[in-house]
Amino acid sequence: MDKYWTNFRNYHLVEKKQAINYQFDNYPIPENLGEQLIENFIGYYQLPIGVIPGIKINSKNYLVPLAIEESSVVAALSRLAKFSHNKIKLTCNSGQRILLGHCYFEAPSSNMIELLDQKNEDYLQRLNLYFPKIKMRQGEFKWIKHSLLFIKNQFVIKTELAINPAEAMGANSVTQACEKLGQWIAHDFELKLIMAILSNKSPKNIVYATMEYPEIEKELGRKIEQASLIAENDPYRAATHNKGIMNAIDPLMIITGNDWRANAACVYSSLSTNRISLSQWRMTESGLVGKLELSLQLGIVGGVTKIHPQSQFALNLMQIRSSNELCQVAGAIGLAQNYAALEALVTEGVMRGHMKLHQQNIELLKSLSLNNGSHPHTTGSTDTN
Ligand code: MEV
Repeated sequence: MDKYWTNFRNYHLVEKKQAINYQFDNYPIPENLGEQLIENFIGYYQLPIGVIPGIKINSKNYLVPLAIEESSVVAALSRLAKFSHNKIKLTCNSGQRILLGHCYFEAPSSNMIELLDQKNEDYLQRLNLYFPKIKMRQGEFKWIKHSLLFIKNQFVIKTELAINPAEAMGANSVTQACEKLGQWIAHDFELKLIMAILSNKSPKNIVYATMEYPEIEKELGRKIEQASLIAENDPYRAATHNKGIMNAIDPLMIITGNDWRANAACVYSSLSTNRISLSQWRMTESGLVGKLELSLQLGIVGGVTKIHPQSQFALNLMQIRSSNELCQVAGAIGLAQNYAALEALVTEGVMRGHMKLHQQNIELLKSLSLNNGSHPHTTGSTDTN
C-alpha cells in the first residue's frame, strides 16, 4: 500500500484534497439542479465528506468517500483500512441483478392464472419493443408470473415482472414497465388494475461479505462472537448492531446518489423472525470470521448518480465499474464497520473514542460561535447527543 494513504490522516486538508483531486469548493452544485429535482427548492443541505484511505476489498484498493456527520465512522474504517493490508481479509460477492415489480388486480374469480400465463411471452416481447432502452443498456425483461392472494374475503391477482436493470438502480424503469403491463392486462382480460409499482424487496440482489481475522487475540475474538450471538437472539440489540452496519453503508449511498430510503426498506425486508441480525461473527480454528448478508438496490448510472457532480466524483474516486462492484464495497465496509463497533463495545465501550471526537466538534462549534457572534444553536449545552 502506498505510504501516502497509510498516513493520510496526518496530512493537511489542502494536501488531502489535492491527493484525491477534489475540486468542488469553487464548483458548487448548480442551483437549477435542485429546482429540477424537487418542488419549492430553497437550497442544499451539506454533510461532511470523509475518505477511507485505501481499504482492500477483493484484492483491490479503494479510496471510499463517505458523506456522514457521525464522528467515529470514518476514523474506525480508516483503522480497518490499514488492517486490510496485513491483518484482515475482506471479501464480498453479490447475487443477480434482478428488480421485481408488481401489478395488483381485482380478481373476478380464482381460476384466471392459467389464462394469464398463456400471454406471458407475448407481453415480454411487447415490453422489449416498448422499452428498447432496457436492452440497449444490456438489461433484460426476465419473467412474468401470476399468483393469487386472498385478502379480506377477496381474490387479488398479483402479477410479477422481473427486470435486470443492468447498471441502473432501476426503480423508474420497473415502475414504468409495470404500469404499462398493468394497462395491457387490464385491457386484454377486462380486469380492474389496483396498482402497479416496483418492489423494494429484492431476494436475488443479495450481498455476501466476509471478514477474516486470523491473528486476532483469542479473548477478543471470543467476546466479539458473544456480542454477535446476543444480536442474533435479542431484537433490541440486533437493531443497534444493524445500525452500526448501516453507519458505513448509508453514507456511501448518499454520496453516490443512491436512494437510501429504498435501501433501508430493502435491507429491512431481507430480515425475518429467524434472522434478525445482518451479520454473524464466529471464532473458528482459523481465527475470527464475520459474515454479512443483506439485499441492496444500488446503481451507478441514471437518476441523481448521473447528474450530481459529487456522485460522479465519488464513483470515479473508487473506480467503480459496475453496480455489483458498488454493492460489494458497501457490504464489505458495512461488515468492517460492524467489527469496529463490536470491538469497541466489548473492550473500552464506544463513548471514549466517540467523546474524544465529539469534544473536538464542540470546541469547533464554540470557536465558530465566537467568530460569528452568538447563535442559539451553537452555544449553551455541550451535550448535544
Ligand atoms: C453507533 O452509531 C453505532 C453502534 O451503536 C453500533 C453497535 O452498537 O454495534 C456503536
